[in-house]
Amino acid sequence: MAVRELLVMGNPLLYQKAATVDLNDSELPQNIQDMKDSMAHYHGVGIAAPQIGISKRIMYFGFESNPRYPDQEAVPFSLLINPAYEILDSSPYTGWEGCLSVPGYRGKVSRPKKIKYFWEDLDGNRHERIAEDFHAKIFQHEYDHLEGILYPMRMSDLKDFVHEGILLTDVLDKQNIIEE
Ligand code: NI
Repeated sequence: MAVRELLVMGNPLLYQKAATVDLNDSELPQNIQDMKDSMAHYHGVGIAAPQIGISKRIMYFGFESNPRYPDQEAVPFSLLINPAYEILDSSPYTGWEGCLSVPGYRGKVSRPKKIKYFWEDLDGNRHERIAEDFHAKIFQHEYDHLEGILYPMRMSDLKDFVHEGILLTDVLDKQNIIEE
């Protein structure tokens, strides 16, 4: 168990493009274990390596049906190395996002609704998967971390960048809240 400290908004490492992973990198198994342990510890549904100070193109996400996301279908637990994607349907899917690196806040973000994404596994095999809506949103949020982009940088109206305390009230539409 190696829970690592989370980098938070303002840390320059979060704004860097992460490096392509060499599958022979001897630190890789430990890096991945630290990501999984940290995501579980901080109750995220996704994490990207730069969030724990590792500037490599690795992401991990997924959740089973969860009372915190009653309207969302489960997303398979997925470890993605050197991911890429293409947009299949650019019409907007809009929902509230949170980020372990932006503690205490939520923001409403629109992202392309349907994508096809690609990745490598630890054995170097290539995979691809089609994802829509919430699943596509999680992927794109994590992919952005590898490009040095945090979700507030994707927002079109900063009035939709809110303190999470407001979500305990009835002021906002609470659909599609995610924490990653
Ligand atoms: Ni995030």
